[in-house]
Amino acid sequence: MTAKVIDGKAFAAGVRAQVADAVAKLKADNGIVPGLAVVLVGEDPASKVYVKNKHASTIEVGMNSFEHRLDASTSEAHLLALIAQLNADPTVHGILVQLPLPGHLNSDLVINAIDPAKDVDGFHISNVGLLGTGQKSMVPCTPLGCLMMLRDHHGSLAGMNAVVVGRSNIVGKPMAQLLLGDSCTVTIAHSRTKDLEAVCRGADILVAAVGRPEMITGAYVKPGATVIDVGINRIERDGKAKLVGDVQYESAAAVAGAITPVPGGVGPMTIACLLANTLTACCRANGLAEPKGLTA
Ligand code: GUN
Repeated sequence: MTAKVIDGKAFAAGVRAQVADAVAKLKADNGIVPGLAVVLVGEDPASKVYVKNKHASTIEVGMNSFEHRLDASTSEAHLLALIAQLNADPTVHGILVQLPLPGHLNSDLVINAIDPAKDVDGFHISNVGLLGTGQKSMVPCTPLGCLMMLRDHHGSLAGMNAVVVGRSNIVGKPMAQLLLGDSCTVTIAHSRTKDLEAVCRGADILVAAVGRPEMITGAYVKPGATVIDVGINRIERDGKAKLVGDVQYESAAAVAGAITPVPGGVGPMTIACLLANTLTACCRANGLAEPKGLTA
């Protein structure tokens, strides 16, 4: 079998176009412009690239983008004061504090200082609890993007066996909650799971979010399964820098029914879902109907 390639780049472009249409309508009908505030502390090169891309995408869909760049030595009190200011600002509907933060800052404390209604990352403890209990919440962007692609490919996910490899708060745990919400039978596996290969081979849906380059080979994949590769790993091969996922693409694609590539799979969906979450937060803040198909 040669797997169908799930084109995340095209899918994300569709989501961004849908967000842009909804933003234009919000402006025309209600005079409201959704606003996203992004806070970057320090000079982490990868974070700087992410923040730059987020800014460009936010402007592109017609939203306001507010960037706050703080020195690496910024105190916790200063950062918390900025968050309080953004919480109180009615033109800001979404707040994202880029992670990782410098070591002297307590990430949990900082994230939990964000107004949960503006927490477009879905990392606030209230949103984690709401998602875990099946209530309306802000949903972390990467798992939301994976869910959208899975729903698009399969229609209903009910009754499918889903295995999520990885137990991070950002991807693995919320992904499992979302799949459970769509009535999958869900297993959370990780690097210390016994006989991981056999566990994964039981999956109709296999989500790899373990952070190990090309760990999931074709031997882990049930014939015809859908494989979602969340990994983004920079490696060097044959003297060249290369971007690879957590899935060994060639061997997995030979067995799977459908697969997301790296790059061009899950990656582009993350920013698209950040924009979707900002739109959702703006609609909720203004008592307006939420956009269809852009939430969990
Ligand atoms: N750093 C890497 N990924 C993310 C993300 O999804 N959100 C935030 N806030 N920081 C990140």
